[in-house]
Order: sequence, then C-alpha cells, then structure tokens
Amino acid sequence: MKEKYSTLIDFDATQSEYLNLISMIMDNRKRGDKPVAFIHTYGCQQNIADGERIKGMLSIAGFEFSDKPDNADVILFNTCAVREHAEDRVFGNVGALKNLKRKYPNTVIALCGCMMEQKHIADRMYKSFPYVNLVFGTHALHLFPELLYKTLSTGKRVYTRDNDDTLVHEGIPVKRDGNIKGWLPIMYGCNNFCTYCIVPYVRGRERSREKDIIITEAKEMINSGFKDITLLGQNVNSYGKNLKDSCSFSELLKEIDSIDGDYWLRFMTSHPKDCTKELIDVIAESKHISKHLHLPFQSGSDRILKEMNRHYDRKKYLEIVNYAKKRIPDVSLTSDIIVGFPGETYEDFKETLSLIKEVEFTSLFTFIYSPRVGTPAAQMDDPVSAEEKSKWFRELLDVQEEIASKRCASMVGTTQKVLIEGAKGKDGILNARTSGNVIVEIKAPEELIGTFQNVEITSAGNWILKGKVI
Ligand code: SAH
Ligand code: SF4
Ligand code: F3S
Repeated sequence: MKEKYSTLIDFDATQSEYLNLISMIMDNRKRGDKPVAFIHTYGCQQNIADGERIKGMLSIAGFEFSDKPDNADVILFNTCAVREHAEDRVFGNVGALKNLKRKYPNTVIALCGCMMEQKHIADRMYKSFPYVNLVFGTHALHLFPELLYKTLSTGKRVYTRDNDDTLVHEGIPVKRDGNIKGWLPIMYGCNNFCTYCIVPYVRGRERSREKDIIITEAKEMINSGFKDITLLGQNVNSYGKNLKDSCSFSELLKEIDSIDGDYWLRFMTSHPKDCTKELIDVIAESKHISKHLHLPFQSGSDRILKEMNRHYDRKKYLEIVNYAKKRIPDVSLTSDIIVGFPGETYEDFKETLSLIKEVEFTSLFTFIYSPRVGTPAAQMDDPVSAEEKSKWFRELLDVQEEIASKRCASMVGTTQKVLIEGAKGKDGILNARTSGNVIVEIKAPEELIGTFQNVEITSAGNWILKGKVI
C-alpha cells in the first residue's frame, strides 16, 4: 500500500497504514461497487492543491470520485475563509445535506480547509450541524487518513484543531485534477498580515519547501506531460527565506526553467514589496516562464496602502510595472483590488481608478471589502455604506472593461502561441490560452488538446479572443 509520491519522499508510514485500514472498512460500508467520495473545494489555488492531496490519499484507499454528493460514501467540503460570501456558501451547502444524511446515515460528512482554522467558525459548524462527522483545519491535512479512520472505526464525531502551523509535510500523495495544467505548491502560509486578510491566521507561518523536492516534482510533472505548471504560494517571491541552504525565488525559477521540455511555467502570487528587478530579468530571459505577471496592488492610494500594511507605495508599484513593460515586450499584467477598505474615501478610490488606467491591466480580480473576525481592519471605522461601495465597484468594472476590450482589440491580426486546454462545447470550439493568460476560442480538432499551436487572432470581445490555427 506504500505509494511513491515523488522519487525523494515516501508518505508517512503510519498514515499509509490508516489508508489500508480505511480501505478494509470501506469494503463493508460502501454503497456501490467501489467506495465513492465527493470533494468540493472553495477558494484559491492553494486550496485546490490541498484538495488534490485529499484525493491522492483517498485514491490509495480505493476511492473513486463523483461530481455530486448523492452517491458518495464520503462527502468533504474543503472551505475558504477569505470573504463572507465564501463562508455563506459552505453553511448553505452543508445545511442542504441533512436529508441525504437521514437517508444514508453511513455517509461520512467532513469539513476541512481555511474556515475550520477559525475557532469560532469550526465551533459553530460542529454545533449547528450534528450530522457532520469530521472537522479539521489546513494544518491537519497530513493527518487526514488517521482522522477519517477514527470516525469510521468508532462512529464518533472527530474534531481537531491547534495543530502545528510551522511545518512542511512532504510525501502526501497527490491526484491532480487535470493532465495539462497543474499546480505545484512551493511554500505554505503567510507572514505579511495585511490588515484585511484572514490568510495568515488560517494558513500559518510562511514556510518553503526544499528546492530539490520542488525540482523533482516539476520534472515529474513535465515528464508526465503537463504543459502549464503554476508554482503556488501566498507570497511566492519571498520563497526560500526559512531554508537551510538559501535559495531565492529568482534562483528557483531559473533552475526550473532550465529543465528540458515543452511547457510553460507560471507562478502566483507575487507581492509587490518583494518584486525585484532581478525577478523581472529572470522572466525576460527565460525559455519557459509565461509573459504574465500577476501583481496585486489592492489600492492606488498611498494612505490606504499604509492602512492595509502592504509595505509599498504607488510609486514603487509603478516602478516595477514600468520596468516589467520595458524588459518583457507585450507583458500581460493582472492584479487584485479591494474596493471599500475601512475609511476609504471616493478620493482614495479615484487613485485606484487612475492606477488601472495608467497600467492597463489585461484583467483584474476585484473584491468589495469583507470584514474578517480577528483582523485589524475589522476593528476600523467603516463609515461608507454598502450601496456606495457597490457604486464604486461598478465604476471600477466599467473602466476595466473598456481597458480590457481595447487591449483585446489591439491583438486582432497578431499571431499568438497558445496552449489548447480543452473543449468548450459540442460545436468543435476549443479553449486555448496565451502566454499572457488570455483565453482564445478556436475551431480545431480535439486531437490538438494539450498541444501548443500558433493561432491568428481573428476577432476580440471584452475579455476573450477568437482565432484560427495557422
Ligand atoms: N496572497 C495573495 C492572495 C490573497 S487572497 C496576495 O497577497 O495577493 C486573494 C485576494 O483576496 C487578495 O489579493 C485580496 O484582493 C482579496 N481579499 C483578501 N482579503 C479580503 C477581504 N477581507 N475582503 C475583500 N477581499 C479580500
Ligand atoms: Fe493575505 Fe496579504 Fe498574505 Fe496575501 S500577502 S495572503 S493578502 S496577508
Ligand atoms: Fe481562501 Fe484559504 Fe485560499 S482563505 S483564498 S482558500 S488560503
């Protein structure tokens, strides 16, 4: 039962043994021919990567996966705490399982992920939903086999918290969701404590994986045919700070880029405070790194940036962006923005608008500020009404739509290298993506899925291009 995860590290022997025991229990408990799990992940790529590890562990215990809860023996929600809306969806979806659990009482219902690292939320979940069997947070992911075994073998509810948030657990098996694009975590946690953000509280302290392990995993992904690999971390460009043998993010990128093969390399998320010219030079001179920089600035107002504890100002941000534009022709820039941070005025907001006009981003991830219990910003005065914030938010979307559609239109007639990622519908339209992360719809045979092609861009919408293979 000991499955090799990488050529360097085996999965923990005790946890592997629990997977064995789970497999035996499930032989008698499963509803169908094989044990089935439904895993639903909310939130960011880090959470998706964790979900792929849960699937890896369950696969070893013999599970198959369903895209609906109805026929599942194990239902697991891998939750996100970043905004209230994400949390509300989880409460709603867990509530909706009541009847299913009544009909099939043997079904195990489990909750994990970032929400479960917040004590008040985990407690509320555990109390409000007596049919939830298992609750564990992000720091207990490596113990999942043991926890699932405990609830399966005793019939008791299992609730765990307060696991160490400073360690890296290697060797957890992984079952990736696709075979063209793949996530590769290079570090966990965050030490930045931006005043609005819950992530440092639910993901623990920043810690990097050893370089050799990352390189081995990257080689395995490339050799098994992955064409688009994204290195993941909450603040990837501070990679390596806690390592015994020091290695900067730029050095790591250079080493991965030197691996032979036909692939693109991406990374997210970089923090402007750690974005050096050296990093941009590495991208400019690389063979595989995509010409795309996701660099969240959050607000264009220096006053708000200070209140957010972001450690850069508008001038420093624009310096990096302008250097990237100079060094990387056609660089595609994207960002995250928060509208309505406590105390933000319309004057501050206008600074955000002027920044997006100046930079001309390819696309933006825009959010209305959502107070998070336990963060400093949740204690700040927040006099602007929700209606007013929504008005600003719509204004931001309108401005960005104009910029994005202008950018897309300027690409018509050009030739772009794209990776064809999959079929869009039944009418022979395939989805592809440029190095700059813009979607291109093309009419092409399905055999081309998973290949790089040169396409001519024939028309453009606001966010999406259409093209034909040359
Ligand atoms: N580590 C990354 C991403 C963190 S979460 C980074 O620093 O960029 C993704 C995005 O969610 C953030 O960039 C921010 O724009 C948004 N976000 C985080 N907390 C938020 C909150 N309380 N309300 C609204 N948006 C938030
Ligand atoms: Fe949150 Fe800031 Fe860390 Fe990003 S860098 S995860 S926004 S605290
Ligand atoms: Fe959400 Fe946790 Fe990611 S809070 S955004 S899933 S790190």
